[in-house]
Parts: sequence; C-alpha cells; structure tokens
Amino acid sequence: MTASTNIVWHESEVTKAARQRAKGHKSAVLWFTGLSASGKSTISVALETVLHQKAIHTYRLDGDNVRFGLNKNLGFSPEDRTENIRRIGEVSKLMIDAGLLTLTAFISPYREDRQQVRELLEPGEFIEVYVKASLESCEERDPKGLYKKARSGEIKGFTGIDAPYEEPENPEIVIDTDQLDVKGAIDLILAYLSDNGYI
Ligand code: PPS
Repeated sequence: MTASTNIVWHESEVTKAARQRAKGHKSAVLWFTGLSASGKSTISVALETVLHQKAIHTYRLDGDNVRFGLNKNLGFSPEDRTENIRRIGEVSKLMIDAGLLTLTAFISPYREDRQQVRELLEPGEFIEVYVKASLESCEERDPKGLYKKARSGEIKGFTGIDAPYEEPENPEIVIDTDQLDVKGAIDLILAYLSDNGYI
C-alpha cells in the first residue's frame, strides 16, 4: 500500500466548537478498555441509552461490530490489533469533530496504542475507562465460550491467556466489575462527565 501524496486539508465552515454549542455538550471519546468479558460492551450499551435519554448525541463503536465491516481485514496479531486501534482512534477523532460523545469498547490491550489515540486527540477528549475484572471472573463468565476455546488451544493468541493485556496506568475512570453492577458503573461515569463539564 502506498501513502497518499499531494493532499491538502480543507477546513469546514461549521467548526467543532459550533457543533458542540448547537448540541449543548462537549464531544469526547469514552474509551472502554479491558479483558474480553470484562463488561465493556454491556456497560457502554447501557450508558449510551441513558445518555441518549438525556438528549446527549452519542455514537458507539464496538470491537466485534467494527470487525464485521471497517476492520474486517484485521485479525488478532499484535500488528493487526495496533492497526485496529489506530483506525478506531481516527474514527473517534472524526466523531468528536462531528460533536458526538463517542463510546468505544475495544480490548485495546497495548498501552502504547491507547497512548497514541490520546495524543491524536485534544487534551480532555480521551477519557480512558478501565473496565477491570479479574481473569478468573472473565473466564467464569465466558459468554461467548472463547476462554474455553483458548484454554483448549482452539483459539491462539487470546488476550489474558496467551496474549498480553497491559493495564492502564492512569485511567480517568476505573470500573471494577467484580464489585460494581451496571447501574453503579453508569452512575460513576455520569458523575465524571458532569463534574468535568462534558455534559
Ligand atoms: S483488540 O485487541 O482491541 O484489537 O480486540 P477487539 O477489536 O476489541 O476485539 C475483541 C473481540 O474479538 C473476539 N476475539 C478475541 N479477543 C481477544 N483475543 C482473541 N484472540 C480473539 N479472537 C476473537 C472477542 O469476542 C472479543 O470481544 P469482547 O467483547 O472483548 O469479549
């Protein structure tokens, strides 16, 4: 693949700030990261419903869903996971520009990849939400039966089993799903968004 050359950025007349003013809230990405079955999708789906009911303009990107389309050519090698997260970072940037409070739910196992997305965005636009659960609980939940397959060797390179997960060092929000139910998680995130002037 060759990189694009001779390209020039065109500014829109409708700015991000104007879009945010029209919508009455800030735009940012709530970047959920954590092991498979930690609760990223469940919490982000439920949170989006609550935000929507509050007339907040949202959009949610989810690992499995995005891999059906935009990222269908990517697998789970370290390089492909990095490319997966890079693309989602770029898509999040577009959504933030469109004035949306974006929610992403990807394992995003590498610290460096998440840091790259943080740096791609403006200060305050990347809200890292670490959905924390012990490997034991995730394995016990195993809603898709993937841990079982990983343990039996049917799936290779499964996060937490034979592929790494690098915990966030300074996430904006930590949700311990071994302790907190979905409502508790939503309340915590809503409090963060309102205390920090996002909504
Ligand atoms: S990553 O690491 O951020 O690129 O992964 P992501 O795009 O979030 O996709 C994770 C979902 O893909 C399924 N799956 C796997 N996960 C981890 N490792 C391997 N090898 C793997 N193979 C398939 C799994 O359903 C993940 O979904 P979640 O919702 O996280 O359980």
